[in-house]
Amino acid sequence: MCATLCSDYGSIVPYRPPAWCSSISEKAPRSRVILSQRNTPIVSWDISGLPDGYRLYLKRDDMTGGTLMGSKVRKLEFVLADAKQQGADAVITCGDVESNHCRITAIAAQELGLKSYLLLRSNSEDPDKLGLKGNLMLDLLADATIVLTAKDADYDSQLVPRMQHMVDELKETKSLNVYRIGSNRVGTWGYVEAYREMIEQEAFSQISDVVVACGSGETSCGLALANHLSGSTVRVHAVSVCDDQFYLYRHCNRILNEMGVTGIRSEDILDIIDGYIGKGYEESTDEELQLLTDIARRTGILLDPTYTLKAVRGMLIEIEANPRRFSGHNIMFLHTGGLYSMMDGRLDHVMKKQVTDRRQIVSYFSLDKPGALHF
Ligand SMILES: Cc1ncc(COP(=O)(O)O)c(C=O)c1O
Repeated sequence: MCATLCSDYGSIVPYRPPAWCSSISEKAPRSRVILSQRNTPIVSWDISGLPDGYRLYLKRDDMTGGTLMGSKVRKLEFVLADAKQQGADAVITCGDVESNHCRITAIAAQELGLKSYLLLRSNSEDPDKLGLKGNLMLDLLADATIVLTAKDADYDSQLVPRMQHMVDELKETKSLNVYRIGSNRVGTWGYVEAYREMIEQEAFSQISDVVVACGSGETSCGLALANHLSGSTVRVHAVSVCDDQFYLYRHCNRILNEMGVTGIRSEDILDIIDGYIGKGYEESTDEELQLLTDIARRTGILLDPTYTLKAVRGMLIEIEANPRRFSGHNIMFLHTGGLYSMMDGRLDHVMKKQVTDRRQIVSYFSLDKPGALHF
């Protein structure tokens, strides 16, 4: 780990939940490790495709850090503090080959002096067939050990038992105390805390709705719970990018239960928006990629193809088709990061065509013959 010279980055500090969490503070984490840049900006976002009268804002959690960019770092602050306090020497977690969560885990673990093991779902069993790009490249640079498993492996019945087996084996063969990271109550506090940050930024004086991408549901569950407990009238919407609402509500209810929440069901505090998974998780259509490039070229905001782009697309379509779903016209999209998965090669063909059509790259090698310089 890098020694901290002039900030508390990397230190474990006591955590006190907001006063409005008093009904569940008993089960709140007692500490967190500081890894994220706080008070990420909230900016007005001039995106095309919004009906008249609507205003869009962007909470830039893609600015929580460089390689520690995005929502997952806010959760890991609690999870890794827990791991350190339980005396772990290593962590294990799972995801897909291009998982942002796995990349942030590997990098943060390395910074904190913990070894990392990643169980990654892959289309190929053969490591030589994997392109070393995007998040996978960063996992490897953070010295993670990667174990591949089938792309369609189910979380509860296939991934969890494999991870447990690896934990046991590492204990037996290497005497490592390995902490298993899953989707659970500890990480959900990351977005309860982010909600407090947004209250302190006075975000909710102007905002009627918050929209976020939903994978495991932890982020949206934390936001919706904080929104409810703080007495806000804002509506929280989560656009699902991998599972249907029935699975997600069930999962969120399990998290709420683990957090000690009683008398509240996720169905009552969170609007899960289905129908925008497209071709499948981690797969993109050309239309989606085109929207991604349009938004980037128009506003400078880069969305990742797996989560934030699909969520923004779903939000724009729903505002148009189903406006009564939203409580007002001032909507904040929470940018949860994920940029490195854009570097997995998915965009290459769309960008190649655009760059050619726009003649966006020209050469000017010879001073005598400016050649193709016709801007
Ligand atoms: C960039 C990005 N946005 C959103 C999400 C979804 O967050 P959650 O799993 O908490 O629903 C993820 C999850 O991996 C992510 O990587």
